[in-house]
Amino acid sequence: MAPESIDGIEEQALKAIEGADTEEKLQDIKTEYLGRKGKITLFLRNIPSLPPEEKPVAGKKANLLKNRLEQEISDKIQAIEEAVSARPADIDVTLPGRKPKTGTLHPITKIQKEICSIFFKLGFQIAEGPEIEADWYNFEALNIPKHHPARDMQDTFYISDSVVLRTHTSPIQIRYMEKHEPPISIIAPGKVYRCDSDITHTPMFHQIEGLLVDKNISFGDLKGILESFIHNLFDKQTSLRFRPSFFPFTEPSAEVDIKCVMCRGAGCRVCSNTGWLEVLGSGMVHPAVFENVGYDTSVYSGFAFGMGVERLAMLKYGIDDLRKFYENDYRFLEQF
Ligand code: DAH
Repeated sequence: MAPESIDGIEEQALKAIEGADTEEKLQDIKTEYLGRKGKITLFLRNIPSLPPEEKPVAGKKANLLKNRLEQEISDKIQAIEEAVSARPADIDVTLPGRKPKTGTLHPITKIQKEICSIFFKLGFQIAEGPEIEADWYNFEALNIPKHHPARDMQDTFYISDSVVLRTHTSPIQIRYMEKHEPPISIIAPGKVYRCDSDITHTPMFHQIEGLLVDKNISFGDLKGILESFIHNLFDKQTSLRFRPSFFPFTEPSAEVDIKCVMCRGAGCRVCSNTGWLEVLGSGMVHPAVFENVGYDTSVYSGFAFGMGVERLAMLKYGIDDLRKFYENDYRFLEQF
């Protein structure tokens, strides 16, 4: 086979380089022309057999071409690499976006807000008090005597002899009355603590306390307020009944039951087949309590009530296990 002319090789090679659009194709071209058996390599090897007068020109041309091709190929490979790395990552703009995870209100917070907003509409204001409480506010001022079982170490978390974790929200009544003169109407939500832990008790739970004091307040006012509250939280078909009871800080005292919201009074597992659910404690403020805060018992009367928030949340949202509130399981919490 007659050796190709150097001009022919040049033309072919430059065309091939121009048409190559990948690094692999350029590497192949490099092998084809500059490799061990490449066209230019073979041409150079053939020079000694050329007529003497042609040798210098052919040698010079071939070496120039060799350098030029090496340069062109490496320039083009570099250009391709730069183009690839400058290309933006593949983005499919039609894919749905990734939503950031948003939180929801905890069911206890949610019902607490709902209960408070019902009482706002009835003219009550929010009051708060400390969770670490003096014995005086938690027990003594509320007319709970020294020997009362609630004051036992088994029932109350003691910080010291005279300081406890509050066992109910009732001490907020005392704190508020100390600082304000009647007429007052407050509700006080908060965490409370008791040495108790089983399927239906957690050592921390929530209560909402209510207190209203003015001239001429009667048990009828208490009934009216609680009935509006229950009708707002559940519905107007949910009737109430007041059962005589005892609390040291109220006289008379009553426990309030509502018609079972699950079975409407027919009897079911939730109401232990009684048709009724106990939802709060209440009563007329005991004169001893008024005396402890310096209110004139011949002028003022009032009522108080206290409810467990977890219990109301369970009834309202149909939750059957108290522990679900505190397990922090997203699948549960996201439903509210
Ligand atoms: N403090 C009571 C408890 O924890 C609940 C309660 C009952 C509060 C009657 C009151 C009340 O204000 O009048 O069991």
